[in-house]
Amino acid sequence: MDTEREKQVVADGYDAIADAFAAWSEAVVDPVRDRLFDRFCDMLPTGASVLDIGCGSGVPWTRRLADRCAVVVGVDISPVQAEAARHNVPTADIRTGDVMALHMPEQSMDGVVALYATGHLPAAEHEALLLRITGWLRPGGILLASFPAGIDVGWTGEWLGAPMFFSGLGTDAYRRLLAAGDWDVLADEEALVREPDGEARFLWIIARRQPRA
Ligand SMILES: C[S@@+](CC[C@H](N)C(=O)[O-])C[C@H]1O[C@@H](n2cnc3c(N)ncnc32)[C@H](O)[C@@H]1O
Repeated sequence: MDTEREKQVVADGYDAIADAFAAWSEAVVDPVRDRLFDRFCDMLPTGASVLDIGCGSGVPWTRRLADRCAVVVGVDISPVQAEAARHNVPTADIRTGDVMALHMPEQSMDGVVALYATGHLPAAEHEALLLRITGWLRPGGILLASFPAGIDVGWTGEWLGAPMFFSGLGTDAYRRLLAAGDWDVLADEEALVREPDGEARFLWIIARRQPRA
């Protein structure tokens, strides 16, 4: 399957499972996410600008960011999810589309979050996504992201009642990419996340874009 088809599967899938996903994600237990999200928020400057990649319906994370930041931009490839986010977080600027096609000014963000979103992009794009995020962050800006812990060259199958696509490079590769990029890694934790239909392992990262030398 080619990249565009994989992305269409994800967009159509999240359109179709909007209600099922909302109920499913409410039941997810991930204490590492909760702790690192609070830590990320505490690190943001007053009046921060933050980008939420794969914002979904905006509940609860985009809304929590909007409660404490001056500017929140969300992007989601699923039109149904993006429309829900617009409704749920009216103060946020929600864009519908692929994060790899998102236009943002360079060095315009104090923070970027990507919560359970990277694993829906083809693994071949994960390095390029990190480079895009580096470009959008101001020097000293902060990234909070989860990455799939396992290596998965790409899987398409039924998930929550619709076709879905997942992919991942594995923890070692993400650590290598961050070490090779303009990042200071402030938190690096592998988490076994309890999901309604089983367990999944993620690598959670907080990283600071290196200040200018
Ligand atoms: C597992 S959900 C997570 C939603 C939200 N971040 C949360 O934690 O509740 C992943 C979201 O990422 C979006 N997504 C997947 N691939 C994307 C892409 N290439 N560009 C933008 N959004 C994408 C999906 O449509 C979906 O809403």
